[in-house]
Order: sequence, then structure tokens, then C-alpha cells
Amino acid sequence: MNYNNCDFVIFGIKGDLSQRKLLPSLYKLDEKKMLHKETKIIGIGRAEWEKKKFIKIVKKSLKKFLNKKIKKNIWKKFKKRLKFCNLDVNNIKKYVTLKNIISKNKVIINYLAIPYYTYSNICKGLNKYNMNLKNSRIVLEKPLGNSLKTSRNLNKTIGKYFKEYQIFRIDHYLGKETIINLLYFRFSNSIFYKIWNKKNIDHIQITVAEKIGIEGRLKYFDKMGQMKDMVQNHLLQILSIIAMEEPKKIDSDSIRDEKVKILKSLHFIKEHEIDKKTSIGQYKTGKINNILVPSYISETSKKKNNTETFVAIKININNKKWKDIPFYLRTGKRLKKKCSKIVIVFKKNKSKIFNKYLNSHENKLTIYLEPKERIYLEFLNKVPNLNKKCKLKNSKMKFIYSKNFGKKSIPDAYEKLLLECILGDQSLFVRRDEVEQSWKWIDNIINIWKKRSKELELYSSGSWGPKLSKKIIESDGRKWF
Ligand code: BG6
Repeated sequence: MNYNNCDFVIFGIKGDLSQRKLLPSLYKLDEKKMLHKETKIIGIGRAEWEKKKFIKIVKKSLKKFLNKKIKKNIWKKFKKRLKFCNLDVNNIKKYVTLKNIISKNKVIINYLAIPYYTYSNICKGLNKYNMNLKNSRIVLEKPLGNSLKTSRNLNKTIGKYFKEYQIFRIDHYLGKETIINLLYFRFSNSIFYKIWNKKNIDHIQITVAEKIGIEGRLKYFDKMGQMKDMVQNHLLQILSIIAMEEPKKIDSDSIRDEKVKILKSLHFIKEHEIDKKTSIGQYKTGKINNILVPSYISETSKKKNNTETFVAIKININNKKWKDIPFYLRTGKRLKKKCSKIVIVFKKNKSKIFNKYLNSHENKLTIYLEPKERIYLEFLNKVPNLNKKCKLKNSKMKFIYSKNFGKKSIPDAYEKLLLECILGDQSLFVRRDEVEQSWKWIDNIINIWKKRSKELELYSSGSWGPKLSKKIIESDGRKWF
């Protein structure tokens, strides 16, 4: 494998993302010999750090966030890669300092681990000193705007300085092993490939439940809410991978072409459908692991607050493959437990002899994305007996990652994504049309919520969310699994 020789430039090196994710992931890649021996890591910040001080700070954050001991020999190698560049990202003239540090002949990866309102100046600074040439890549973190309009503007600005093949938009869910596997699982197995359509599937559920609240990110979250924070990106990405047709090739454009087709086929929810198809909630106080946690509103110290921390939606896809097959999505904070899963519920079998024993939910495929990554297939089995009495019982076939591939088989999402940036493969990154199409669909719902002053239902922390989220699915004669 050609692990390109690069200068890995991190804007916002002092920030949470760099400390928690980027530095530990780069260290782990180094440990696995997946960084070129000449690759350098250049941290950018406003601090007046000498190189020595910078190295000390990096070691401190690795100690805190690596989740294992730093190995002496790896650290020796890793610290030689580190450089610090003092730069105020808004001071465009000063980018010459960075220009003097990076090497002309390497792949330059500019990782923007910094709020999106700085992106424009960073692009201008890089452009002023010709640091956006062919060998440059730019990596962007979400949120990529907070509406279709802001997202378009952002993409337009970046597009002035970088071509699409140079832009790597991160959705860290796409780096998760179990989500990457969806493509392989769906299209390499004839048993699933053949039945993955409206003829055989009754409906699909996607749940991304979080136990944590907003974890000190009030300023950001209060402006966004769960719909923009989680549905616009992570959940719509999962949905598009689950529903897309087989890509022509396993390359970035073919995969993203298929995903965007799904996003474009999503039924735009109409105003009269909004209460039937969407439910929103906000957590109130409640117990999680027997500990009483505060309500969202008390965290905001406001009297009234309309930010949703839970969303459930019923989605239809207007294409031949999925016509009339609902996809139910739900995601929320401070729920009973952390659990991300996809449940594919198959139609009832039209058996002449067993019809009277069957209801519609016997055959289920559950893909547990995280934690405890596993796949269960549920089916009916005859209960062993001697007499002729028919008794069928739901049974499960289980595949468990840790048992099949070992306990440490699942790499960290960021490790995977940083490696893909280095390799220059965009398959696991979101293309401009995908981001904008998702915003378009989300904006429509948010506008209707606003117009109709949609009511937010309070739910207890430690529960499974608002009662109305059950109604969305139960009114169709189904239930959340
Ligand atoms: C982030 C959201 O994108 O994903 C957070 O901004 C959320 O609010 C997080 O908690 C969830 O990620 P994960 O990997 O823990 O499921």
C-alpha cells in the first residue's frame, strides 16, 4: 500500500477533536506502520509554543485519550513528526509562515478541526500562498452549514479554491466498521441481495440512541437540535446506504452516485402529514444508571426553549424498489442506553399450511452498529416434540464481531477516515450534492415545524423518548424494536 508521504496540517490543534480523536488516531496509524516515514504532523494554533512545549502537550493529550499506554519506541518515532506553526487563521498575510514549514513535493492534508466560519479565511490564506495546488487536500468537519443556504454558501466558497476531488467532508459514521460493512453485506450475499426490496421487506427501522446529553456543547447544540446534529448527516447517510442500488464499481463516485439517488427520492413531507410522520421531544430530568440527571432546559438556564433533543420520522422513498415501504428513524439524547441499530423486518410468509400461526414480524435482521457490534437473524423453528402439535418458536442466528474476528477487531472510525484521506480515496466522504440534498429535505421539515409551532414533548431522561414517537409507528400496526 502506498501510504503517501504527507504533511498533515491540523488547524485547531488545541481543540477537543484534535486532542480526543485526531492525535490518538495518527499515533495508532504510526504504530500500525501506516504513516510514511517522512510524514509530518503540523499543528496550527495561536499559542506561542516552542516545538518542545508542543511535543509536551501532544504527549499529555495522548496519555489522556489514547486509552492505552504510550509505547516508547512509537513515541520516539511519532514525536519526530511533530511541528508547530503559530498562526492566527484569520490573518491571511501570515500564511507565509505555514508555507515555509510545509514541503512542496508532498501531499498536503489540511484538516480543519475548527468552526466553519473560519473556513473561508483559511481557504483564502492557503490560496494566497499557493497551498491549494493539485497535491493539496482539505478535510472538513461537520456541521457543514446549518441550512441549505449556509451549506451552499460554504461549498461555494471552498469550491472557489479547491476542486471537489480535493475536498474530504467528514461524517464520522461513514468510518465506522459496521457501517462500511453494509455495502459488503448487502451486495456480496446472494441471500440478502435477492430479498432486499419491497417485495420481501415490510419496513425498516433505524435507531441511533444516545445515553449522553449535550456534554458541555450547549452553545453549538442549542442552535442546531437533534435534527441538524444527527439526522441531516448520520441517519440520512445510513438510510441511503441501506436503500441504495448496487454501485457500478466500488469507487467513490459510483457509491456516492447511488446514495444521492436515494436522497433525491425521499418523499418531501407535506404540512398535513407532519404530525403523523414526525415527533420531536426534549429530555427532562430522569435517572440514567440510577443517577439523576438534569433536564435540558435547566442546562440552558432559559425559561423556554424549543430545541429538540429527540426526533422520530417516518420516511418514504419514491422509487420502484421501495415504493410504499416505510423507513422509521429515531434518534435522541439521554435515552435509556447507547444503541445504534438497523432492523430489517421481512414480510410474513404466505404459507398455506402455517398461515394461521404467523404474524408479520417473525423474520427480522438486526444489524447492531454500536456498541457490541453484531448481526442477528430471527426465524421460526419448530419446538422439538413427539406429538403432532405444531408449535413454532422465534429463534436467532447470531454473528458477533468480537467472537469471529477478535476483541480488538473494530478500528476507530477516525483512524479509518484519516487513513483514507492519506490514501486519497473519497468513498467514505460526503460529496457536495449529498450534503445539499440532505439539507434541502431537512429544511422542509424544520420549516413546517416552525410554521405550525410544532409542540415539543418532554420525555424523561433514561426512557426511550416521547410517547408520540411510538404513535408514528403504532398507527401503522407496527412497533419499535
Ligand atoms: C456527533 C454529534 O456528530 O455525533 C454528537 O454532533 C453525537 O451530538 C455524536 O453525540 C455521536 O457519535 P457516536 O460516534 O458517539 O455515535
